[in-house]
Amino acid sequence: MSKDLSNYRKKYSKGKLIENIIPKNPIDLFLNWFNDVEQNKSEQEPNIMSISTVDENKMPRSRIVLLKKFSKSGFVFFTNYNSRKGLNINLNSNVCLSFYWPNFERQVIVNGKATKISETDSVEYFDSRPKGSKISAIISNQSKVIESRDLLDKKFSELLKSGIPLNKPDHWGGYLVKPTEIEFWQGRENRLHDRIIYKNDDKDWKFYRLSP
Ligand SMILES: Cc1cc2nc3c(=O)[nH]c(=O)nc-3n(C[C@H](O)[C@H](O)[C@H](O)COP(=O)(O)O)c2cc1C
Repeated sequence: MSKDLSNYRKKYSKGKLIENIIPKNPIDLFLNWFNDVEQNKSEQEPNIMSISTVDENKMPRSRIVLLKKFSKSGFVFFTNYNSRKGLNINLNSNVCLSFYWPNFERQVIVNGKATKISETDSVEYFDSRPKGSKISAIISNQSKVIESRDLLDKKFSELLKSGIPLNKPDHWGGYLVKPTEIEFWQGRENRLHDRIIYKNDDKDWKFYRLSP
């Protein structure tokens, strides 16, 4: 079986990325782009991103997570610290985040280092989550093989009925990804796309244009 996909030929023409109008700090540009997507309401979850990590054999793996906060300090997401990604980050804190907003024909790629956020901040976020999400985080040994779906459902309803306080487990919390490089990609006509990469040299951000 094979399926030919060579006829997918979307034209990109929705925007431009020009040096004299972009901010000095990439987080300001990220904020502008994020606001565009949010205000346009075309994406249900503009905060979807992929995060790539590598394991002890340098094998990469990407998966989708939700960005929950960003600022000049970096990008925050929440997960199980014992998950496959969590174990990878323990060994090698270099990660890559990527965002794609198809309606704006824009991609952002962030390279940086992930560190755990404070326990207090993780607890604060955990406590703000809906009850069902708390229960799932407590009962799920994320990324581990389990016997069956039934077992998961059973654990969920047992904890729901038990009335035990739903406290954040120690192995669950946030990571802050502090960026070292951020690339902004804007689709252009004839595949002659705009690519601007910001690099952080200790204290200052500098940007460069990359060939598409
Ligand atoms: C739309 C979407 C949002 C997700 N958000 C999260 C998240 O915020 N945190 C998380 O740990 N997993 C999230 N997941 C699940 C992850 O993709 C992944 O299955 C899980 O984190 C285990 O990954 P790992 O085994 O590579 O560590 C999300 C998946 C999708 C499709």
